[in-house]
Amino acid sequence: MAGGWFETVAEAQRRARKTLPKSVYKAIIAGSEHGNTMADNLAAFSELGFAPHVAQAPAERGQGTSVMGQEIALPVMISPTGVQAVHPDGEVAVARAAAARGTAIGLSSFGSEPVEEVVEANPQTFFQTYWCGDRDRLTQRLERARRAGVVGLIVTLDWQFSHGRDWGSPPIPDKLDLRAMLSFAPETIIRPRWLKAYARTGGPPELTVPNMTIEGEDPPTFFAAYGEWMQTPPPTWEDLRWLVGWWEGPVMIKGISRPDDARRAVDIGATAISVSNHGGNNLDGQPASIRTLPAIADAVGDQVEIVLDSGIRRGSDVVKALALGARATMIGRAYLWGLAANGQAGVENVLDILTGGIDSALRGLGRASVADLEASDVLVPEGFTTHRVVEPAAG
Ligand SMILES: Cc1cc2nc3c(=O)[nH]c(=O)nc-3n(C[C@H](O)[C@H](O)[C@H](O)COP(=O)(O)O)c2cc1C
Repeated sequence: MAGGWFETVAEAQRRARKTLPKSVYKAIIAGSEHGNTMADNLAAFSELGFAPHVAQAPAERGQGTSVMGQEIALPVMISPTGVQAVHPDGEVAVARAAAARGTAIGLSSFGSEPVEEVVEANPQTFFQTYWCGDRDRLTQRLERARRAGVVGLIVTLDWQFSHGRDWGSPPIPDKLDLRAMLSFAPETIIRPRWLKAYARTGGPPELTVPNMTIEGEDPPTFFAAYGEWMQTPPPTWEDLRWLVGWWEGPVMIKGISRPDDARRAVDIGATAISVSNHGGNNLDGQPASIRTLPAIADAVGDQVEIVLDSGIRRGSDVVKALALGARATMIGRAYLWGLAANGQAGVENVLDILTGGIDSALRGLGRASVADLEASDVLVPEGFTTHRVVEPAAG
C-alpha cells in the first residue's frame, strides 16, 4: 500500500480512513456502548500537564527499559489486537517493524498470522490468550506458542462481550470469500489500494484464526473461536494461579483497573500487569486507564511490573504514564492506523513518532532517562482520578 511518511498518529488515522473499506476501519475504531470510556482514554491524557525545566538538561537521553525479561529500546510495546484484514502482511509486518525499532510485540490469539511466523519476524513475541475452552484446549494452544518460541504470556481478562455501539457495528462476514467480497463491493471498489494490496497476495483475506487451531481440527473461523470463548465460564483467581504455575515463565495479567485486582495478580505470581480498559472496547463507563494508574502504582508498584495501555497516541502520553508509575506502555490503534496507512514502514513510522515525542518530553523535563521520571514532572489536576463523563467522539 503506497502512502509515504506521516507526521502524527492522527494523520496515520486519516490515511487509514481513506485506505480501508469502511467496515474494516470501523472494526479498528471498535469501542462499546456510548463510547464514554474510549473518549475518556484520550481526554484524560490532555488533562495532565508538564512541569518543565529550562536548563541543566542532559545532552543525551535514554529510553531503554525491560519488561518480562525482555530488553526493549523504548518504553512502548505492541499490544495484541485481533483485527483481521487491515493489511495482507498483518502481524508479521507489525512484528518486523517492532523488531526493527527494538521492541516487543504481543500477538493476539485471534490474530491472522501463525505464531511461528510472527516469532521468526520478532523473537521478542509474547502470546496473548483469553480464558477460552477447557484446560486441555487452552494448554494445547499455549504449548504450540511455547514450541514456536514465544518469550511470555499475556492473559487478557477484561472482556464482557458488550453487545452494541451507538454508531453501529461493522458487518464482518464469517469468511471473506468471493460472495462476501461482492456484497462488500461498493465499499471495496472505492478503496482500490486496499483491494490491490490483497490482489497481489492472491486473494481476499481469510478470516480464520490460525493460533486457535486444535490438533485434528480445521483452523476455526473468527466467529467459531469467538463462540467457544463466549461459552467458557470466566476464570477464578485460583484458575489463573494454576495457569501461571503451568506456564513456568513470565505472565502478564492484562486489563487491571483496580488496586485490589492488582494485588490479586501479585498474589498469583504474575510478572507484570497491564493497567488497561481494552482501549474502551469493554465495559463502557470505566475511567481512562491513566486515571486508575496512580492508585495501582501505590498499591503494587514495587511488587510487579506495571505496563499501561489505552489512549496512547503520542510520546508525551508515554512520558505521563511513566511519571505516574508505569514501567512501559503498549499501543493498539496507533500501530493499526500506521499498518493500514503504510504497512511495516507505517508501523515503524508510528514507533518513530513516539520515540521522538518521548525524547522531546524528556529534554523539556530535564530528565536523562525514562527511569528518572517522577510524579512531580506531571501536573495532575484535582479530581483527576475520578471518572469524568466526556462527550464521545466515535463514529
Ligand atoms: C480493534 C481492536 C482489537 C483488539 N483485540 C485485542 C485482542 O485480541 N486481545 C487483547 O488482549 N486486546 C485486544 N485489544 C486491546 C488492545 O490490546 C489494547 O488494550 C488497546 O487497543 C489499547 O488502547 P488504544 O487502542 O487506545 O491504544 C484490541 C483493541 C482494538 C482496538
